[in-house]
Amino acid sequence: MTSAEIRQRFISFFVKNDHLEIPSANLVARDDPSLLLVNSGMAAIKPYFTGEEKPPHKRLVDIQKCVRTEDLEEVGDPHHHTFFEMLGSWSIGDYGKKLAVELAWELLTSDEGFNLEAPKLYVTIFAGNDYIPADEETAGYWRNVGVPDEHILRLPAEDNLWVSGPTGPCGPCTEVIYDRGEKYSCGIDCNPTCNCGRFYEIWNAGVFMQYDRKSETEFDKLPFLSVDTGAGLERLAAVLQGKDSNYETDLFAPLVTEITSGLNVDSLTPRQKQSVRIVTDHLRAAFFLIADGVTPSNKQEGYVLRRLIRRAVTHQVLLKIEHKDLYFRLFKQIIDIYSDFYPEVANPGIVDILKIEHQNFLKALQRGLNVLNRELSEVTQENAGKTNIFPGEIAFEIESTYGVPLETQEELAENYGLEVDEKAYQKAYEEHQELSRKGAASKFGKVQEYAPEEIAPLHTATHLLHAALREILGVQVKQAGQSLTPERLRFDFTFERKLTREEIEKVESLVNGKIKAGLAVIKKETTFHQAVKEGALALFREKYKEVDKVTMYQIDSFSKELCGGPHVEDTSELGCFKIVKEESVGKGIRRIKAVLEENN
Ligand code: SER
Repeated sequence: MTSAEIRQRFISFFVKNDHLEIPSANLVARDDPSLLLVNSGMAAIKPYFTGEEKPPHKRLVDIQKCVRTEDLEEVGDPHHHTFFEMLGSWSIGDYGKKLAVELAWELLTSDEGFNLEAPKLYVTIFAGNDYIPADEETAGYWRNVGVPDEHILRLPAEDNLWVSGPTGPCGPCTEVIYDRGEKYSCGIDCNPTCNCGRFYEIWNAGVFMQYDRKSETEFDKLPFLSVDTGAGLERLAAVLQGKDSNYETDLFAPLVTEITSGLNVDSLTPRQKQSVRIVTDHLRAAFFLIADGVTPSNKQEGYVLRRLIRRAVTHQVLLKIEHKDLYFRLFKQIIDIYSDFYPEVANPGIVDILKIEHQNFLKALQRGLNVLNRELSEVTQENAGKTNIFPGEIAFEIESTYGVPLETQEELAENYGLEVDEKAYQKAYEEHQELSRKGAASKFGKVQEYAPEEIAPLHTATHLLHAALREILGVQVKQAGQSLTPERLRFDFTFERKLTREEIEKVESLVNGKIKAGLAVIKKETTFHQAVKEGALALFREKYKEVDKVTMYQIDSFSKELCGGPHVEDTSELGCFKIVKEESVGKGIRRIKAVLEENN
């Protein structure tokens, strides 16, 4: 079944069932401060679910262009990509769970639908939590259409409570999984919730939007229930075309052929195959973004595009792709595959924008690669077989000056048997971030407005929080700002995605454990150099580096930070630590608001 036919069958099925077909919205999210690019079908029509806007019809169907870049590092495997098409259908306050399940089953298993074998399908439902009950009603409807009990799985909130963002419409969902067979299995423990590739999630067959999420723990009832379904076309195509990978479907294959035309495909290493997929995915996404009016820049969606193009160029260089007219050849293929459905991609101006961005970046990249190669061979000689470390400061310097991404440097370093010192890289990155954050120094301004004893408890709690986030989420977490009042702390930090409820709970309980332990907060005068050597977290090297006396606050072996204070003397003075909000405040920056409550 060609992808054009899949689109066609999806749309016709829902139109036949009284849904109105609406066009795909532009990829750039309009009037939505919580979103840069449209990342699902429902994202483009959110106001219908809250009742703020009236839909043109209560039943809708569409195919929406989407971009998701949270998993950028995963792109390169056979299943991840940034741009995708989402097949979506909706009931806005019209039918509910029962008909949603019946329609889904008919489309999946009927001849005029996708004709999938029922025994290969599994469904998931929400298992319930403290705030929202288990969705047994939906389980019942699946049983009614003939899904056996053992093919109905109950999963927790992180899998089956669909939320569109930190706030907004949300609800329990029910998803369909397709068993692609033993051949894809990872072993004896393989089961339908496994991510190995055997059990392939093909359709979020219904988010039952019943709640308006106000915070992590507050869910208001929406005025009416809506149904939101969404299926990634590329995944469905892989299943229906019997392909191992989305990249082998008719949506990608002609692009892959162009990209690999000068290469010996049979002798590509796994890493090179990964590069091919990265180039294919990123350029396809770039074509669609530019078609929707995005141009490369250092801001917002322009920066997303720039990053995609730069990564694509880097991997083209790694693959030694003979460039010549590649962008033009890809353009012709894109027109063939997509222009019937998305006429906007047939704009020759797209090729010019890609070429210019490619050329501008290529010069810097090549200079950077030359510098890197020189450094790599120098370091190899200096190390003389004693160590295999490549200094992280150099890696950072090369990345920030020439734009050679860390991962590319790591790959090239491997050829020399070297490993980039990631810790040192992170530190250099952190210092740079802080220096370039304009007006950052003023963030401590707030502290001085209050008497030291008023804010000391929350100040100490901030150190505990910082250490806990790094322990639970990883050392990539860096402080990006903070503000304290006597009532609450606000802590901004670098992290690419939203925290799960479970992560938030883990952070809270780690901090509370340290509070209960009654640990002494030890103040120590030392030099900047010595403190950093001991592993203290330091911000603003500029601020400290001239002075040979800095203050470090240490809480057991858990937290060590350079800081002017004030702090409490013992963590047991803090009460009970509670996170009241977790949200995004910009690309890659999250914000936590937390309070200290009285112990009962
Ligand atoms: N909004 C849901 C999703 O993105 C269903 O469309 O999975």
